[in-house]
Amino acid sequence: MKIISASDYGSMSRKAANIISAQVILFPDSVLGLATGATPSGIYRQLIDWYQKGDIDFSKTHTVNLDEYCGLPSDNRQSYHYYMHSNFFDQVNIPEENINIPNGIAGDIDSECGRYDKLIAELGGIDLQILGIGNTGHIGFNEPDESFDKTTHCVKLKEKTIEANSKFFESPDQVPKYAITVGIKAIMQAKKLLLVANGSEKAEILYRSLFGPITPSIPASILQLHPDVTVIATEDVLVQIRKNKPDAIFERVLRRD
Ligand code: GLP
Repeated sequence: MKIISASDYGSMSRKAANIISAQVILFPDSVLGLATGATPSGIYRQLIDWYQKGDIDFSKTHTVNLDEYCGLPSDNRQSYHYYMHSNFFDQVNIPEENINIPNGIAGDIDSECGRYDKLIAELGGIDLQILGIGNTGHIGFNEPDESFDKTTHCVKLKEKTIEANSKFFESPDQVPKYAITVGIKAIMQAKKLLLVANGSEKAEILYRSLFGPITPSIPASILQLHPDVTVIATEDVLVQIRKNKPDAIFERVLRRD
């Protein structure tokens, strides 16, 4: 695992966008696993900028988004469909037919989950998976659980997640209680993982995920078993971790700006 320190949010976003851009330049037909939330939006802005300058071409790229709220149609401003189109897809040249996001309003959610796993398999898996981290330790919407073995599934969101994500809604009551998420299995089968974390409130959960015991009660802790993980965290996250948990392992893996 590589941990890269970024001086601020802009730097975190550019470093992550550089890694994604290198992937697409080297392998234009890559399958990118994409994430939503506040953290990756700066990455998308940077990629759009490089696309507009002619530095990057997404015409052969496929995308697979991690998750979607249940019950929100794609034109709902809080849906992840809307987020992805307005923050990224509408401004770059990924062919519409190469874009994949779970359908949160599918009549039969179980068959939608099966369809999504099948399409990931047919694409040959994910080449580079972008991840944020939720304050329950969730990746995608894989909430604390009793095992790591779920494929794409419908998940009941934890209260803590609903509260955190209510920043995007008018009130916590409006946050859907369920979501469809790609499972830990597809994430762990991705060839490369890139996790971004911004803001000191992520320090505790990031530390427990990367250096604590591997347990499904902290879903992101499974990442310790992946052979190719890069974490890019803002300096305030890393300072906070170091202050609370001076730890030799942490110092060894840390790469500074
Ligand atoms: C949501 C998404 C996750 C994301 C998390 C953290 O729950 N499903 O993929 O990592 O939020 O989001 P933020 O970046 O806003 O803290």
